[in-house]
Amino acid sequence: MPAKLPAATVRRLEKAARGAAKASYSPYSKFPVGAAILTGSGKIYTGCNVENASYGLTNCAERTAIFSAAALGEREVRAVAVYTPTPVPSSPCGACRQVINEFGPDALVICVCDGPGRIATTLDRLLPAAFGPKNLL
Ligand code: THU
Repeated sequence: MPAKLPAATVRRLEKAARGAAKASYSPYSKFPVGAAILTGSGKIYTGCNVENASYGLTNCAERTAIFSAAALGEREVRAVAVYTPTPVPSSPCGACRQVINEFGPDALVICVCDGPGRIATTLDRLLPAAFGPKNLL
């Protein structure tokens, strides 16, 4: 079970995710997404979607945040907040769920948007029976 986070930490994550979307490079979709993750060290790392003229090479905001943290030595993701510029919240895509699982199988996942709605769930619920490090020989 994921540890419950203090409400103030959740608010900080949500604010950081909204702020991160401002750096989004999304000239093709015009859909700026921001993400913020809380790592095992207690730090918050942010990321945005980074698109490419070869569309399939686009990196989602969640993966940008996780790869940035991993590149600085972080190996545990406790929570992920994602902001989408939509009237209702949307949850991370399948590829991002798999990447979150690598470092945060018990992570909280919080999704916010431009409307009042919000999703607060866990990676385990979004990606049940995940394939992860433990499945390798
Ligand atoms: N996107 C994200 O960054 N995260 C999500 O959770 C959903 C989709 C990005 C990818 C692409 O740049 C744009 O949103 C439209 O799919």
